[in-house]
Amino acid sequence: MSIELNNFSVTYGEVKAVDNLSTVFPPGSTGLLGPNGAGKSSLIKGLLGLVPDYSGGARILGRDINSERKQIRQMIGYMPEDDCLIPGLSGVGMVQYAGELSGMSAADAMQRAHEVLLLVGLGEARYRKVETYSSGMKQRIKLAQAIVHDPRLLFLDEPTSGMDPQGRMEILQLISMIPGRSEVSIILATHILVDVERTCDRVAIMNRGKLLKEGSVEGIKGKYAETYSVRVEGNRALFQEELRKNGCQVAADGKHLLDVTLPPGADTGLVVRTAGETGVQLRRLVPGVQSLEDAFIKLIGVDEHADL
Ligand SMILES: Nc1ncnc2c1ncn2[C@@H]1O[C@H](COP(=O)(O)OP(=O)(O)OP(=O)(O)O)[C@@H](O)[C@H]1O
Ligand SMILES: [Mg+2]
Repeated sequence: MSIELNNFSVTYGEVKAVDNLSTVFPPGSTGLLGPNGAGKSSLIKGLLGLVPDYSGGARILGRDINSERKQIRQMIGYMPEDDCLIPGLSGVGMVQYAGELSGMSAADAMQRAHEVLLLVGLGEARYRKVETYSSGMKQRIKLAQAIVHDPRLLFLDEPTSGMDPQGRMEILQLISMIPGRSEVSIILATHILVDVERTCDRVAIMNRGKLLKEGSVEGIKGKYAETYSVRVEGNRALFQEELRKNGCQVAADGKHLLDVTLPPGADTGLVVRTAGETGVQLRRLVPGVQSLEDAFIKLIGVDEHADL
């Protein structure tokens, strides 16, 4: 397992940012998805020992986070959400330094620093002082310093924040190429759903310090794929009752709309037939949830999504 959590919590005074999580993240790429304040960064920082107050147990790549911190540091890469650059250093000096901190020799770290800076598209800017970099360039060098030592597990916290559309696409493409190169597992924290859909096989949806749902991206999308938004005129109560008898799950979504989830294997013909049988007029029948974004909104609630 990449990560195992056992009643793991992170608190800041009264605030419980990560609330008693017990779960496992298997190898592969997992999107840690949640709105602002969900606790994504706190979970990562807690695992890496970067916050003062955490409790419970956790293992990273089989190692205990309390007693085997040094070994863990050599096996993981961390791209923090905040600036982590050291003013005065050149790009290559900064990445080399990060490599040395992770246990590489100075010569190896220097050679790898050049390689990863080319990889992230900072070949030309590598001798410039890091404080002169633009936001997009800072994201790139933060990624470079996280992968310089070939980690087996990468924590990427909001890797595309502050990037223009083209830069975002490039970074995402880069991230999705990383696992293929050397079987690296990735935990990618973001509130941007398409970033997860593009780069991850799994998703863990987080809100208010809790994990609401975990599974494959396809599985979570699929679970909601058979929900339709339906509006009828006529005896709505009878229509609902018949749908339920036919194996559908029905929820009233506002005054007029029904969210109808079909039973496995059924298609929309079931809704049409049920409307006919109960004498209601079908005024609307459209897929309710098609993307991970919709699944996400359903899970965390529309109001919270409005803040994203
Ligand atoms: N240093 C801190 N001191 C006090 N409270 C904090 C601190 N850091 C985070 N919090 C609180 O913990 C909760 C979780 O915050 P966290 O930064 O982990 O969320 P997040 O999911 O990473 O959000 P974002 O998408 O905005 O980065 C929030 O309520 C936040 O206000
Ligand atoms: Mg965060």
